[in-house]
Amino acid sequence: MKNSNYKVHFFPVDVTVEIEQGKTILDAAYKGDIFVNALCGGDGTCGKCKVIHGSGMIESMPTTHVSVSEAQKGYVLACSTKVMGDLEVIIPEESKLDKSQILVGNFPQFSGSLAAATAKTKHFKQDPLVNKIYLELPQPSLDDSVADYERLCQGIMVKTGIPLEKLTANISVLKHLPKLLRESKWMVTVTLGHHHSFVEILEVQLGDVSANNYGVAVDVGTTTVVAHLLDLSKSETVDIEATYNSQIKYGDDYIQRIIYAEQNDAMEVMQEGIAEDINQLISTLIKRNNLSIHDVNAVVCAGNTVMTHFLLGLDPTNIRKEPYLSSANLVPPMRASEVGIKINNHGLLYTLPCVGAYVGGDISSGVLAVRQDEAEVLSLLIDIGTNGEIVLGSKDWMMCCSASAGPSFEGSGISCGMRAAKGAIEKVGITSTFDVICKTIGNAPASGICGSGLLDCLANLVRSGVIDRTGNFQKGINTERLRKTDNGYEFVLVSKDKTSTKRDVVITQADIQNIIRSKAAIYSGISTLVESMGMGMNDIEQLFLAGGFGNYLDIRSAITIGMLPDVPVTKVQFVGNSSVIGAKMCLFSKDAYEIAGKIASKMTYFDLMSNNKYMEEYVSANFLPHTAIEKFPSVAEELRVRS
Ligand code: FES
Repeated sequence: MKNSNYKVHFFPVDVTVEIEQGKTILDAAYKGDIFVNALCGGDGTCGKCKVIHGSGMIESMPTTHVSVSEAQKGYVLACSTKVMGDLEVIIPEESKLDKSQILVGNFPQFSGSLAAATAKTKHFKQDPLVNKIYLELPQPSLDDSVADYERLCQGIMVKTGIPLEKLTANISVLKHLPKLLRESKWMVTVTLGHHHSFVEILEVQLGDVSANNYGVAVDVGTTTVVAHLLDLSKSETVDIEATYNSQIKYGDDYIQRIIYAEQNDAMEVMQEGIAEDINQLISTLIKRNNLSIHDVNAVVCAGNTVMTHFLLGLDPTNIRKEPYLSSANLVPPMRASEVGIKINNHGLLYTLPCVGAYVGGDISSGVLAVRQDEAEVLSLLIDIGTNGEIVLGSKDWMMCCSASAGPSFEGSGISCGMRAAKGAIEKVGITSTFDVICKTIGNAPASGICGSGLLDCLANLVRSGVIDRTGNFQKGINTERLRKTDNGYEFVLVSKDKTSTKRDVVITQADIQNIIRSKAAIYSGISTLVESMGMGMNDIEQLFLAGGFGNYLDIRSAITIGMLPDVPVTKVQFVGNSSVIGAKMCLFSKDAYEIAGKIASKMTYFDLMSNNKYMEEYVSANFLPHTAIEKFPSVAEELRVRS
């Protein structure tokens, strides 16, 4: 029997979606392009996708994530509730994933990256991957009977120094050339696209339009996609735009998405989804800046290995199966149109090279951004997302690994966790009388706590004696903020009368253990890598911390909880979105792009999971800051002083 279709009307967005009976409310939201917070990708485990059922027939799975009082008010999990009739559904503030909440304005992750990219790019010759040059060619005569294409190539060689044998062109360029050269009176603009070993004449245009040359650098993240529009003729950043990765609906982490694609024969869907996200960003950027698609001649994408595979339509299946292989790590430039990216028809797509299955182009890009590959001293780059990718090295060698930190720093698995967005607590102070001072992103009423807030919260809980070094609450302390619930102890950070959700923002015992496990994975990855090279933490001269931690990250707190090694704070530098910085550097300079390839080839991948030392280190790091406190002398001093 064929299922009926029903209408689901979502408030306050005022969107109606028609969907088959038996599909979930979350399916309906995604169909209507409505982003609901679904950190576990619809597994029913994160409890973040709560919506209010207004009217109509539903069928809900039992869940512990909805309390009795919430259920009485109509709260259900969108992912575990089937549509069985026409419905009205309200999406409460805390469950919304509003694109406008992705912070791109005064967020150092992005604004800082502009300055950083500009500064670092100065190390390279300003010579974009796709370049436009204006030529005034000598007119042919009986004494000068060089053919049109050869005449053009000679003009290019004279102007740029590119040898003739390195120049090539597509037949479509050759077909149009005779008419165009004569119409233009031999004054033309040539668009040149850099491939590794040759230069392609992408387009020839009438007259001088050499100033009209734009490119887009894209960080293709598992959660968000960030695009920077660049004026390649002036080496300037024009504008920035960001969105959520629409693949979120198929799983929060990339392994879930590979499994989804395999089980649902949906590789094409994944490819089209990510290409469409990039297209929408480009479309917004060009409209806002009164440009046309024709003005954009290149896109450089930096993403982890799985996102790069999905974007290129490569099968990522073997990435999650032993021996964990990518389909390709170094992919040559191609026409952007080949993967459905809408720029100038001749425009090129460059993807930054991956190192292997778990260290992708975003990390090659990050290493390029901080120029770790040319450092005289030993440095460490840590990029923290769902995985913590770690690169140790200098100009002579580089080792990298990927530690499975889990998504708790992005708010998943944390009772009041959320991504770094407006209303997220990003800084927490606890006084000696257990009063709590919280700072939220955008100074908005608190709606949850993001990664930087969680780190700061944990550090201050242990400093103030609310928890001990195992992470357990000290039951004897004198404060009403610590209370017992059916699910164990929790500590109230912000009471419900001051939150946007009208529910207390708390940190529970289970949350604390989750964060400790995540930070332990990062620290043990660092220490295993450092020790495997016969070195100690004191040998690290510079530590770069990248990732989407919001606009505040207290480095000292990250050391106090033992996520980062006990090095002087002055050695640590927060570099924000290093992935997009590196992509921009490549667009501005083909030398930088060539170096990104060398960086990926130079890095040696170190497999943590097959390493016994890593497992031992991980167990020891499940403590605050570590079972071996002597590894953290400044933290030992700090906690002793305050106890
Ligand atoms: Fe519904 Fe996680 S519980 S998406």
